[in-house]
Amino acid sequence: MFQIKNLIRKKILRLKGSKNILKLNFFFHKYFGEKNIGEIGLNFSCKPGKKKIVQDAIDRKKYKSYLEIGCFDNELFDHINCEKKVGVDPYSGGTLRETSDYFFSKNKETFDCIFIDGLHVYQQVKKDILNSIKSLNQNGVIFIHDCLPNNVFDQAVPRCKYIWNGDVWKAIVEFRTQDYVDTYTCYADMGIGIILKNKNKNKLEISIEDFSKLKFSDYFKNFKEYMNIVEYSELENLF
Ligand SMILES: C[S@@+](CC[C@H](N)C(=O)[O-])C[C@H]1O[C@@H](n2cnc3c(N)ncnc32)[C@H](O)[C@@H]1O
Repeated sequence: MFQIKNLIRKKILRLKGSKNILKLNFFFHKYFGEKNIGEIGLNFSCKPGKKKIVQDAIDRKKYKSYLEIGCFDNELFDHINCEKKVGVDPYSGGTLRETSDYFFSKNKETFDCIFIDGLHVYQQVKKDILNSIKSLNQNGVIFIHDCLPNNVFDQAVPRCKYIWNGDVWKAIVEFRTQDYVDTYTCYADMGIGIILKNKNKNKLEISIEDFSKLKFSDYFKNFKEYMNIVEYSELENLF
C-alpha cells in the first residue's frame, strides 16, 4: 500500500514538473499573474555554494548532527560530513522516505544543523521552519535554500520554470518580524536563509497580517531590508 501511494506521489510530482505543465503555468502567470517588473540582478556565480556553506558551519561549530529536509539526488546530503545525518524526502534521496510533516510529527531527536530544501511554497516552508526550531539544539543553525528569487516567475506559485525558488522568501520576511529568532539571508547559492535561536538583533518592523499576500513588487523594492542580507564572510561573526 505504502509503495503504491509513493508511486502515485512520484507520478504527480513528475507531472507537475513536466515541460507542458510548466509552460501552461508560465502562460497563466504571464497573462493573469503579477506584472513582470524585470530582474533584480542578483548574481550568484562568484559566491560560495551550499556545500561549502553548510560543511564550513558544521566544521567550525563542531556540530554533531545534521538534518536535511528535501534531498532529491543527494547532491548535498552525500557531500555532508557529520557524525549523525538524517535526510527526509517523500520521493528520493536521504534516509527516510517521508514528508517533512510526517517526520516532525513523530520526531523526538534534536539536531545542530538543519537544511530546509523541501517543498518551496510559503505555507510549507513556514511549517518546516517552526518544526525545525523545535528540533534545533540551542547553539544550532537552520539553513533555508532558495530565498532570493531574481524575478516574478522564479517565485510564482504554482511553479512555472525548471529552475525555481518558489515563495520561500515570504517565510523569511515573516520570521524577520519575530522576537525569538534571529534571521538573515546569505547572498549565495540562490539565497540561503539563516535562522538562529537567539533574540532578534535587527527586527523587521512591518505590520502584515497575512505574509502569503506579500507581492513580488514588495520584495523587489525592499529585499535588502526584508531579507537582512549578509555576505558569506560575515557568517562567522553571526554564529
Ligand atoms: C530542490 S530538491 C532538494 C535538493 C537537495 N537539498 C540538494 O541540495 O541536493 C527538493 C526536494 O524536496 C522534496 N520534497 C517535496 N515535498 C516535500 C515534503 N513535503 N517534505 C520533504 N521533502 C519534500 C522533493 O522530493 C525534492 O527531492
